[in-house]
Amino acid sequence: MTQIAMTVNGRAVSADVEPRTLLVQFLRENLLLTGTHVGCDTSQCGACVVHLDGAAVKSCTMLAVQADGHAVTTIEGIADGATLHPMQEAFREHHGLQCGFCTPGMIMTALDLVAHHGADLDEPTIRAHLDGNLCRCTGYHNIVKAVEAGAKSMGSALKHAAE
Ligand code: FES
Ligand code: FES
Repeated sequence: MTQIAMTVNGRAVSADVEPRTLLVQFLRENLLLTGTHVGCDTSQCGACVVHLDGAAVKSCTMLAVQADGHAVTTIEGIADGATLHPMQEAFREHHGLQCGFCTPGMIMTALDLVAHHGADLDEPTIRAHLDGNLCRCTGYHNIVKAVEAGAKSMGSALKHAAE
């Protein structure tokens, strides 16, 4: 067993884990943060995407020990109390989810997209950036609309904050 310590959704956590423990297992089984999902065993589906120090990573493809000393954010950490994050709100508003299994990963990838490309996104950019996230239900179209709208409202929230 190896001792690890990290910050998850702003909270300091530590645990003894086996070195082979995947980050997604650690999040789900040790911390009971079960929003992050496992949809494959070949690193393709993206249902497991979380942020490591602000960047999107597939947590099925990282060991928990590799996150030692880092900051992890999961889907459980992005709402502000009972107020949804603008990207969550946009997925609801634009019907960007059905079964909801891909949604945590989709939203965490979408936030990474906004961090890298800003709030004004066109459809090709969104589709290209989401190619690491598979969805069985929606046909992607409403996800693209949701991400575009979510990014815009994140942009105007930032503008308001700066005023
Ligand atoms: S579980 Fe499919 S990419 Fe991680
Ligand atoms: S909403 Fe079901 S997999 Fe995307």
